[in-house]
Amino acid sequence: MQEIFDKANAVLAAINDAKPATAEELEAFRIQYLGSKNVLKDLFGAMAQLPGDRKKEYGQLMNTLKAAAEAKYEEQKNSGSTTQQKVDVPDLSAPGYSLPLGSRHPISIIKNKMIDIFARIGFTVAEGPEVEDDWHNFTALGTPKDHPARDMQDTFYISEDKHWLLRTHTSSVQVRMMETQKPPLRMIMPGRVYRNETISARAHCTFHQVEGLYIDENVSFADLKQAMYYFAQEMFGRDTQIRFRPSFFPFTEPSAEMDISCFICGGTGCAVCKHSGWVEIGGCGMVDPHVLENSKIDPAKYSGYAFGMGIERITMLKYQINDLRLFFENDIRLLKQFESAL
Ligand code: PHE
Repeated sequence: MQEIFDKANAVLAAINDAKPATAEELEAFRIQYLGSKNVLKDLFGAMAQLPGDRKKEYGQLMNTLKAAAEAKYEEQKNSGSTTQQKVDVPDLSAPGYSLPLGSRHPISIIKNKMIDIFARIGFTVAEGPEVEDDWHNFTALGTPKDHPARDMQDTFYISEDKHWLLRTHTSSVQVRMMETQKPPLRMIMPGRVYRNETISARAHCTFHQVEGLYIDENVSFADLKQAMYYFAQEMFGRDTQIRFRPSFFPFTEPSAEMDISCFICGGTGCAVCKHSGWVEIGGCGMVDPHVLENSKIDPAKYSGYAFGMGIERITMLKYQINDLRLFFENDIRLLKQFESAL
């Protein structure tokens, strides 16, 4: 009789001592003590051999056993230790995962290329704010309020009095540089500009320009031509020719529009150059003496040239992208094509 009690107590001790750590051990524990053929059932069966006065005591012991097995199972299951212990300790010496590298946006590629080309002939890079005041974007550049030339650029004004605006060109940085630095100045100013244009394949309300400015003693139109010729050859190839057409900008005199010979057809005429053999890449001219005066630079001593080019335009020509909107959609299928470009 004592043997039956001893056996049951031994099982109780085993339950209490058990530490089913892994999920497999926990499942084995469940089968052993709570499953359909568990050991407790045999112990229950032994009750029949006990005299009536001990049956109650044994029954209570059986209940304790069952409760202990259930409690242990629940406790181990909920502690989470079973799952935690299953996780392998990571190999801390293993090399990290490499993150896939994206590619540069074509606009950035061409911008960097332009900076690089001009850096080789001594141009540094200057930047200015995209939210500008009237003075730097217009008035100092020979376009006072009510001047008809303001119509050339549809402007996003951001204050009622039209004092604050989103710059319509990077020429505003030209003014800032002339105001704060002494000649000689030789710099390019890349940046984003804004115009209130209807979005189409050829126009957008935001785009990028690179403005160039060179001010020193005895700077002539020949210097401008040479710099532009050098740029065109470096960007589009050695055989590229340039031509200048008379134009107007309120801040340059004389002013010109610059074309390059079509590098697709070599000048014989194709869709890119609309069968003219030439494609326009930007405006330029000699800085108007009034503009120099506005920035407290003596026009009797100094002269200079300025030019402005649209980065989108150059990029479209260079990579033959025919819709400006593609630059702003960030479609991965377009961007992926520039993975190998620098
Ligand atoms: N700022 C002019 C534009 O945006 C371009 C330009 C720059 C022309 C410098 C001449 C000199 O249209």
